Amino acid sequence: MNKKLWMFGLSAALSFGILAGCGTGGEEAPSGDAPTDSEEPQTEEPAEATEGEGGTLVMGTSADYPPYESIDTQSGEIVGFDVDIAKYITEELGYELQVEDMDFNGLIPAMEAGRVDFVLAGMTPTEERLENVDFSDIYYDAKNLIVTTEDAGISAVEDLAGLKVGVQLGSIQEGDAEALAEEHGFEVVKLNRIPEIMQELLAGRIDAILMEDTVAAGHMEAQDQLVSFEVESEEEMGSAIAFPKGSELVEPFNEKLNELIESGKMDELILQWFDAEGEVEDADAEAEQE
Ligand code: ARG
Repeated sequence: MNKKLWMFGLSAALSFGILAGCGTGGEEAPSGDAPTDSEEPQTEEPAEATEGEGGTLVMGTSADYPPYESIDTQSGEIVGFDVDIAKYITEELGYELQVEDMDFNGLIPAMEAGRVDFVLAGMTPTEERLENVDFSDIYYDAKNLIVTTEDAGISAVEDLAGLKVGVQLGSIQEGDAEALAEEHGFEVVKLNRIPEIMQELLAGRIDAILMEDTVAAGHMEAQDQLVSFEVESEEEMGSAIAFPKGSELVEPFNEKLNELIESGKMDELILQWFDAEGEVEDADAEAEQE
């Protein structure tokens, strides 16, 4: 395992220069065939990047999803539960971490194009996504909620007939909403960023949002007029780390994820970010506070 890891790390390290240098370039796959040598003279210090011997891993995320990931207004940095998990795992495995923000919808394509090494974005491991990417074990559970305003008088899915329901483009909520819409006759409005969707709701341009309880909680705390109810979803919910198909990172990441859980550190992170009891592993799904 170490050898494989090391080899992966080497190729990641070699492509680091390309990735780190520019915001948008980086056509080179981080884990693809790396050039065998470089023009630069070898010095004793390995290259600029590597405090972690493995080089740098690029994490893709969609930083519109507190407490999983969001942009800290003070520092401008991407912070959150997912970022802390990524920091722990990459540090343990000897990599530097670089976090790239993009629309949720672009995450899997970015991985397929080799622009990111893994995705931590509260992403649910669905059968459909499994055709294109690999997933770690589930590290946190979630449920679907309809979030709406109190004065809309919506208290069940049936009440949505003829109305507009917002979802994040490319999320499983998009598919879930479309299935529900067929049955209950509402319009699905797809937008890229959660704050944008929330804005539409507060401005009265849509009537409800289908989103995850874990993320709705923060918005509901901030906005008194919001109310919600749970919607059963057919697919499995919860979040896992996504990797390019066949990535050698899956196994070591799973090992470290397990360590994180077993050591109790995961519970600390959950308390810190969700202010909730741990609900990792088995989908006991009763950990919601009243
Ligand atoms: N869990 C849902 C999904 O996988 C939504 C995730 C959205 N994540 C985000 N960072 N905006 O489709």
